[in-house]
Amino acid sequence: MLPRVIATRYVTPLREGGSLPGLMEADDLGLYVVKFRGAGQGLRTLVAEVIAAGLARTLALPVPDLVAIEVGADFAPAEPDEEIQDLLRRSVGLNLGIDFLPGSLDFDPAAFPVDPQLAGRVLWFDALIANVDRTVRNPNLLQWHGLRCIDHGATLAFHHRWETADAFAGRPYDAGMHVLLEAAPDLAAADRDLAPLLTPEHIAAAVAAVPVDWLPDDPAIGDAAAQRDAYVRILGARLAARDAWLPGVEAQVRAGRPPAPPARERMAFLRDGD
Ligand SMILES: Nc1ncnc2c1ncn2[C@@H]1O[C@H](COP(=O)(O)OP(=O)(O)OP(=O)(O)O)[C@@H](O)[C@H]1O
Ligand SMILES: [Mg+2]
Repeated sequence: MLPRVIATRYVTPLREGGSLPGLMEADDLGLYVVKFRGAGQGLRTLVAEVIAAGLARTLALPVPDLVAIEVGADFAPAEPDEEIQDLLRRSVGLNLGIDFLPGSLDFDPAAFPVDPQLAGRVLWFDALIANVDRTVRNPNLLQWHGLRCIDHGATLAFHHRWETADAFAGRPYDAGMHVLLEAAPDLAAADRDLAPLLTPEHIAAAVAAVPVDWLPDDPAIGDAAAQRDAYVRILGARLAARDAWLPGVEAQVRAGRPPAPPARERMAFLRDGD
């Protein structure tokens, strides 16, 4: 279970985040980056955040602590910005709070060397959970007493389509744009050290931490208990199927970053809405 707190103050929006997270104070006097249940990305992103952070903690990868934060109906009317007012109105209830890391800096690979061991562990973890959001452009790593991994809402994409979710186990992971690709990640060491840590019990514990409120009945898969079973089964299957996806990531590490497309192609790519 995630610890529960009650929001007492909306401090400020974090406009650098695509989902418009907000900084809130809670009744434990803590400050939290709040990912709102009413954001366009939906409840599944909150579920992915909780499961990924639980797995990361089992693997001794640094992630900020999480809480479930209760947001009351009295915040929206007090907010002058209409977009935030709407978001707060849609988010009454239980939201995700991420321990705010004061003074943290966005990760800059040029300024902050990451050793091959840590790079390998982060890349292995991202490949396991299929994290598409750890790129050069959007690293989702913070520098704060070392490195902190954040923003796992776009992982575990299988839960957006349960009908095909079992295929996730062997799905290749594209590490071409991973921010740590050029830090000489030692994937072999990561695999040797990390895989044995993720026992079925640890996976189940990470899944059990998701509040039941974020697992409403889903016709494609069933109630919260059925969903939890599916997460545990599919993550266990992906772990067991490393032969299907890890060699591909190792090959990408050996090959290094693919060359940037020539300028003209790049312009077309940008025009297409990137
Ligand atoms: N725990 C934290 N402590 C301090 N700052 C944080 C924390 N979590 C997030 N931030 C800051 O807020 C920004 C947005 O957070 P995050 O990436 O989790 O949100 P998001 O809406 O999913 O963003 P996007 O989808 O645009 O990547 C981060 O890049 C970072 O600068
Ligand atoms: Mg982000």
